[in-house]
Amino acid sequence: MSLRLLRPDDWHLHLRDGAKLTSTVAHTANQFGRALVMPNLKPPVITLAQAAGYRERILAARPAGNRFEPLMALYLTDNSDAKEVAAVKQSDFALAYKLYPAGATTNSDAGVTGIEKVYGVLAEMEKHGVPLCVHGEETDHHVDIFDREKVFIDRTLIPTLKRFPGLKVVFEHITTKDAAEFVRDSEHQVAATITAHHLLYNRNAIFQGGIRPHYYCLPVLKREHHRAALLDAATSGNARFFLGTDSAPHAVHTKEASCGCAGCYTAHAAVELYAEAFASVGKLDRLEGFSSLFGSDWYGVARPTEYVHLHQEEWQVPARYAFGSDEIVPLRAGEALRYKLVG
Ligand code: NCD
Ligand code: ZN
Repeated sequence: MSLRLLRPDDWHLHLRDGAKLTSTVAHTANQFGRALVMPNLKPPVITLAQAAGYRERILAARPAGNRFEPLMALYLTDNSDAKEVAAVKQSDFALAYKLYPAGATTNSDAGVTGIEKVYGVLAEMEKHGVPLCVHGEETDHHVDIFDREKVFIDRTLIPTLKRFPGLKVVFEHITTKDAAEFVRDSEHQVAATITAHHLLYNRNAIFQGGIRPHYYCLPVLKREHHRAALLDAATSGNARFFLGTDSAPHAVHTKEASCGCAGCYTAHAAVELYAEAFASVGKLDRLEGFSSLFGSDWYGVARPTEYVHLHQEEWQVPARYAFGSDEIVPLRAGEALRYKLVG
């Protein structure tokens, strides 16, 4: 079996910085034509000038001859400059702002402390048609970690869309049936990215015979009925749902620790992992829309033109990959995959 598809784009990706870019950029550039690169560095990528600099460092790490194109998201803070929104709209490499509620996830300390703090920026984004990418989790730690996405919809997302009804929102890495239904049924311009790991695993994966830190990410994996609803949404052909890996590398010693970092690394085999998920419900024919068309249409950029091929061919994922001077443990380390992306 071999499936031809237009080269996929990754609409939610963490690459990190410095020497770490060598392996992360190579993995993503081997698979994807473009990626929307998340700005949660330390310090975060807040301004257009900072995003331009980060993009240059990513381009410098690109393998020779590769045409991978990084697109940038700016980190929204309480102090972001509303006057810069028009320039973001004009730029050909910055596509969106990313809202991290302060404290919600990795490197989110500089995030937004209350949505009302960024109303001025959101008004400009609505006016200029610049999308808001949202890490949709409530940060009130009295709320159960498995309920934080649902509570975010009710407490923050619905009121924000009521106030800014024309704002384009991408609900990033959705993990629940509630989020999938909200996106599907919203009267607003709302879309969602879905990761491969949330399509393949439920929360049991974190606890198989012991604690499995490489399955821990945020938002955390949920119950089986949520996974099934996400797979339904991704394979439904609804153009509001598209590919975003949320591949999030962390050095092995920071994951295998008494307080391990959140993030699953999937960039080494992202398209193969999505193919496995789509094939599990006999919907491989729906992969191309999800992986290669709906995201570019939503962001209003050109559709891909090159093709890649997915062969049905078993290969083994290495136990580790280099990650600057450290190493990362990829998802499915040491295990076999059924598909191989070529071209
Ligand atoms: C991401 C990271 O490590 O940057 N971690 C994760 O678990 N997904 C941040 C994020 O997207 O939440
Ligand atoms: Zn992410």
